[in-house]
Amino acid sequence: MIPMNRKTNDPVPCNELALKIKLDFPLLSREMAGKKLVYLDSTATTQKPQVVLDAELKYYQETNANVHRGLYTLAEDATTQYEQARMKVAEFIGAQYEEVIFTSGTTSSINMAARLLEPLVKEGDEIVITIMEHHSNFLPWQQLAKRKKCVLKIIPITKEYGLDMAAAQKIITSKTKIVACTYVSNVLGTINAVGEVIEMAKRVGAYTLIDGAQAVPHMMLEVKKLGCDFLAFSGHKMCGPTGIGVLYGKRELLEKLEPVVFGGEMVKEATLHTLSWNELPWKFEAGTPNIAGAIALGTAVAYIQEIFTLQMQEHLGDLTKYALAEMQTLPGLQIIGPRGEEMEKGEKIERIGVISFTMDCAHPHDIAEILNSHGVCIRAGHHCAMPLHTTLAIPATARVSFYVYNTKEDVDALMRGLRRVVEVFA
Ligand SMILES: Cc1ncc(COP(=O)(O)O)c(C=O)c1O
Repeated sequence: MIPMNRKTNDPVPCNELALKIKLDFPLLSREMAGKKLVYLDSTATTQKPQVVLDAELKYYQETNANVHRGLYTLAEDATTQYEQARMKVAEFIGAQYEEVIFTSGTTSSINMAARLLEPLVKEGDEIVITIMEHHSNFLPWQQLAKRKKCVLKIIPITKEYGLDMAAAQKIITSKTKIVACTYVSNVLGTINAVGEVIEMAKRVGAYTLIDGAQAVPHMMLEVKKLGCDFLAFSGHKMCGPTGIGVLYGKRELLEKLEPVVFGGEMVKEATLHTLSWNELPWKFEAGTPNIAGAIALGTAVAYIQEIFTLQMQEHLGDLTKYALAEMQTLPGLQIIGPRGEEMEKGEKIERIGVISFTMDCAHPHDIAEILNSHGVCIRAGHHCAMPLHTTLAIPATARVSFYVYNTKEDVDALMRGLRRVVEVFA
């Protein structure tokens, strides 16, 4: 969790730390539009440190061979490195080694979980999600509900952009079979009380999936403390490569579930008409995996473990607070998410540095374009959360998001760009 309530006159006192970390990321030294690039779209994907780039290249240059197959040294080395990466990821989220399934990312993890749970739901059962879900944690459940004639129920948000826990209490009932909820909203930045949601689900015997795409990179979470059945996340949002992600599943449940993808690797014995599957976790990893990606994700995890100190968490909190305060000085700018005053509630922190906003004078696409001409990269659109935008009656928002390499100077560059937006359009 990010402590936001330190008393200091400097709005971003740990800035030096981020300035140093920025040097680890080669892309961040490039120019854009004749200006130093300012990358404020880490919610979409983070930049990659040199160590991660090196790890991927080193695998292809020195070890490239398929895993779990060859008996020669190269193949054994590839298998060892791949499985060591799994070990690092398991340790990072406090899971057992067998509970970490490599996938191509959060989207494929959640789709797989929905397919795995499909035989366990029947007509009339209820599946509960929230209105703030990314399409990746909305559509797989919507489609499962359609296939199995289940009822899809949706937990709303409050006017403060938090999850409506009172509504959740009423929506999760004995009919509920699955509860799928994001830990952190990729639009609002809100950190949900997923522990409470999981408790509600457990009380009625429902399976739980947490979308950790935005949480795992920002919080040192432990799955055993959380108590969820599944956790999904992506490597590319935490300094790792694209095309690699994780589906964590509770061992007892994974042992019970049958695979949904068939092919090489997942099978122990195949005959003309039958098959018996491999042990966990390989029973859910059919085909050649993204070996280089997994190895580089292991490196990314080690990198984050080293730099994501308490001081770094304070820095990201300070940066968010600073940006929120500065942005709200602009006329006609609305923050779509917790605004800042909610962030000072003692220990209880409710948001991360994902700030969506609108401006009365300009469309989000125009805002992004002006900022681009200042070398500042932000996202504009519905951020793959159309049901949320429809509920808020906002067609699109602009969004800035921070990660470990962002500095006070980045926020200042953002503000110069936003002031220009006001000059051009107001
Ligand atoms: C909360 C959330 N869930 C799921 C996803 C999908 O992740 P991926 O595209 O890596 O599968 C994202 C991506 O932005 C996200 O922010």
